[in-house]
Amino acid sequence: MLTIGVIGAGIYGTYHIRTYMKDPNIEKVIVCDLNEERLKVAEDSYGITGYTNMGEMLEKESIDAISIATSDPYHFAPLKEAIEAGIKNIFVEKPLATTVDEAEEIVRLAKKHDTKIMVDFHKRWDPAYNNMKDLVKNDQIIRGYISLDDVISVPLNWFSWTAKSSPVWFLGVHCYDLIRYMTNSEVQSVYAVGNKKMLADKEIDTYDSAQAILQMTDGSNWVVESSWILPDSFPKSNDGQLVMLTDNHYLKNESYRGVKSYGEKASLPNYIFMNFGEDEVSGFGLDPMKEFIRNIIENKDFRCDAVDGLMATKIAAAVHQSLETGEVVLLNEGNL
Ligand SMILES: NC(=O)c1ccc[n+]([C@@H]2O[C@H](COP(=O)([O-])OP(=O)(O)OC[C@H]3O[C@@H](n4cnc5c(N)ncnc54)[C@H](O)[C@@H]3O)[C@@H](O)[C@H]2O)c1
Repeated sequence: MLTIGVIGAGIYGTYHIRTYMKDPNIEKVIVCDLNEERLKVAEDSYGITGYTNMGEMLEKESIDAISIATSDPYHFAPLKEAIEAGIKNIFVEKPLATTVDEAEEIVRLAKKHDTKIMVDFHKRWDPAYNNMKDLVKNDQIIRGYISLDDVISVPLNWFSWTAKSSPVWFLGVHCYDLIRYMTNSEVQSVYAVGNKKMLADKEIDTYDSAQAILQMTDGSNWVVESSWILPDSFPKSNDGQLVMLTDNHYLKNESYRGVKSYGEKASLPNYIFMNFGEDEVSGFGLDPMKEFIRNIIENKDFRCDAVDGLMATKIAAAVHQSLETGEVVLLNEGNL
C-alpha cells in the first residue's frame, strides 16, 4: 500500500486526490498547496492532511509517490524538490515544464537520481485514439489535423496564471504528444501563426489561438490548432477533433460522444473522459493516475515519461518561437 502526496489542490489536483482516494493500492493521500484557503477546502472536503510547505510534508510524512498538479509555469520547483528528496515515482501534469531548460534539467535530475516520471498526456489513454493508432499501424500516414479548444471562461476565470501560459502550453502539448504517439516519429520542423486580440483586450498578454504546421520524420504533415476563445455558449468547456489521412484510411474523431443534456445551458457530459463512481473512478482522464499507481506496484515502465514531456516542451517552445519570428523552426536530431 502506498502513501501519495498531491501537490496543488486546484481544479485538476482535486481530480488527482479523488482518483487516488478510490485506488485500492493507496493507503493515504496527503495534499500540499501554497494557498491556505485552497488547502483548507481540500482538507475538509476529503478529510486528508495538508501542508503549505512541501519540504515539511516530505520530512514529516513517509511518502512513496508524488503527484503534481500545480499551475503550468510552476511544475519545475516541486519536481526538483521531490526528485532531490529521493522520491522515486512522480506523476506530473502536462506540460512537463514551460521552458526547454527546465524540462532538460528535470530529465537530467531524474536520470541522476533514478527517478521515474509519468507525464499526464491523457490522450494516450483515449480509447478512440488507441483504436485509430491500431488501425493505421501498417499505413503510411500522409496528413493529420488536430484541434483542441477551450471556452473563453477557462483562461478568463479559471486561472490566475493565464498570462504565464498559452493555448500552446495548455492545449497544444497534448496534440504534439499525440502526434508523436500516433506516428512513432519526431517533429522535424514547425511553422506557426497566431492571434492576440480577445484576451489582450482583457489585459491578459497571451495568444487567443495558434495554428502550427508540423513536419514529422515519418513523412507525415500535421496541422494543429489550439485556442482559448470558444464562446461560453458552447455546451462543453472544450472541444477537439482529429482527422487523419493515410495511404489506406481516412479517420475522424470528435470529442463529443454521447449524452446530450438540456438544462439551463445545453451540455455534453463527457463520461468517457471522467466518471466518478461510488466505489471506482473511470475514464481516460483519470486512467493515467490509476496506471501510474499500478505501474509502481508492478514495477513497470510508464507509458509516457520525462523524455516525452521534454519533447512536447521542445515542440511548444518551437511553436512559440515561430509565432514570434514568423519563421520556420527546425527541430533536427541535433537539437531534439
Ligand atoms: N491533463 C489535463 O487534461 C489537464 C486539464 C486541466 C489542467 N491540467 C493541468 O493541471 C495543472 C493545474 O491546473 P489547475 O486547473 O488545477 O490550476 P489551478 O490554478 O486551479 O490550481 C493550481 C494550484 O497549484 C497551487 N500551487 C502553485 N504552485 C505551487 C507549489 N509550488 N506548491 C504547492 N502548490 C502550488 C496553487 O495555489 C493552486 O491551488 C496545470 O498544469 C494544467 O495544465 C491538466
